[in-house]
Amino acid sequence: MDQKENYCIKDMGLAKTGELNIEYAEKDMQALLKIRQGFEKEKPLKGIRIGIALHITKETAALVRTLRAGGADIAICSCNPLSTQDDVAAALAAQGFRVYGYKGETTDDYYRFLKKVIEFRPQITIDDGCDLVSEIHKSHPELIPEIIGGCEETTTGVIRLRAMEKDNALKYPMVAVNDNLTKHLVDNYYGTGQSTIDGILRASNILLAGKTVVVAGYGDCGKGIALRASGMGAKVIVTEINPFRAMKAALDGFRVMPMEDAAALGHVFITATGNINVITLSHMQNMKSGAIVANSGHFDVEIDLKSLKQSADSERKIRPFLDEYILSGKSVYVAGEGRLVNLAAAEGHPSAVMSLSFCGQALAAEFLVKNKGKLPKKVITLPEEIDEKISVIQLEAMGIRIDSLTEQQKKYLSSWEEGT
Ligand SMILES: NC(=O)c1ccc[n+]([C@@H]2O[C@H](COP(=O)([O-])OP(=O)(O)OC[C@H]3O[C@@H](n4cnc5c(N)ncnc54)[C@H](O)[C@@H]3O)[C@@H](O)[C@H]2O)c1
Repeated sequence: MDQKENYCIKDMGLAKTGELNIEYAEKDMQALLKIRQGFEKEKPLKGIRIGIALHITKETAALVRTLRAGGADIAICSCNPLSTQDDVAAALAAQGFRVYGYKGETTDDYYRFLKKVIEFRPQITIDDGCDLVSEIHKSHPELIPEIIGGCEETTTGVIRLRAMEKDNALKYPMVAVNDNLTKHLVDNYYGTGQSTIDGILRASNILLAGKTVVVAGYGDCGKGIALRASGMGAKVIVTEINPFRAMKAALDGFRVMPMEDAAALGHVFITATGNINVITLSHMQNMKSGAIVANSGHFDVEIDLKSLKQSADSERKIRPFLDEYILSGKSVYVAGEGRLVNLAAAEGHPSAVMSLSFCGQALAAEFLVKNKGKLPKKVITLPEEIDEKISVIQLEAMGIRIDSLTEQQKKYLSSWEEGT
């Protein structure tokens, strides 16, 4: 491990590879680069300390460089022990960022690195999963008066923040970036859809065509995963607890049933619920030998790995990010140790997807500074115009033009008198 006061990373020797990867990612992040150009001129984040707990990937590096272009000073750690791209962390350290994280870090190091970011006394926090906000509220409330606000990237983080708000525990404004249409309708759906399949294939290299893939949860992520799995020829079964979402899955053409019934039918199981123990030991005992279980939800609690480890006769690593457990004489394979499989076993979402999510983060940070002291200590969403601005920039980057309303159409849409 290479460490100095300003960084703790795997190997500084990887910096050159990381720089190439960041350069490559930025080529596909035109919308974010457009925002960076504006930031370079206007410096909306001048002198602001931003503390970040995000997956340390090449795309996050593009965000971090955008925030710096806006004048911010930055410290970053990972939001997941398995998701850091070590070459990217090295490149960021070489570029003078405070960066703390390595792939496969221990739980102790995970919290030590969060603490490093907290010691930086951030005025804005950017989180993916709410661990940074939660640590500040629980253990460092003395920092809160200096904090302008924070931004949250994912569904699970927003759910935790809403629970804090309900308990009157939330002490500074939090922008739910996840709730931008340009975030969850693109990142969770197209991003998780593609990258989850990518992670499972890199870990296992199985043929998906003809297999039965069970997707637990038919939210934005689950819908994307089901769509991509079926696009590759898999037969998809969906499990849900929400009747509307279950109905939607059925109308989209998938079989819907309880996990108890699906367990014996599936070859591959993917959880994307944000919930705990969605796949239990008894489900795994009922699976076919050779079944693969994977998770794409935020925390590694969706598959009951603890009970699996306790009950398995043996356990061995078959190949990177694929572990085999022998349970009642049958094999159960766990991909990516039950952590976000797209980040553990692959590289997370494609850069083009993260460009949109991170436009949201960059503009949310600017919004917080512009509205310093005026926002409620609640979970807030960005004004619609900002979300729309991101779509417009992205369409421009894609070279797509669209129609605009004529005066007659505007009048028609705003009147109630005209009917049949
Ligand atoms: N892998 C990634 O890169 C990535 C990207 C975005 C979000 N996420 C995470 O993925 C998870 C899902 O996100 P989302 O935006 O789809 O959330 P969502 O709330 O839109 O969907 C979750 C769905 O799971 C269902 N569900 C809950 N408990 C269940 C159970 N026991 N069995 C079956 N279904 C159940 C809910 O009814 C809901 O429809 C979250 O943890 C989120 O943070 C991961």
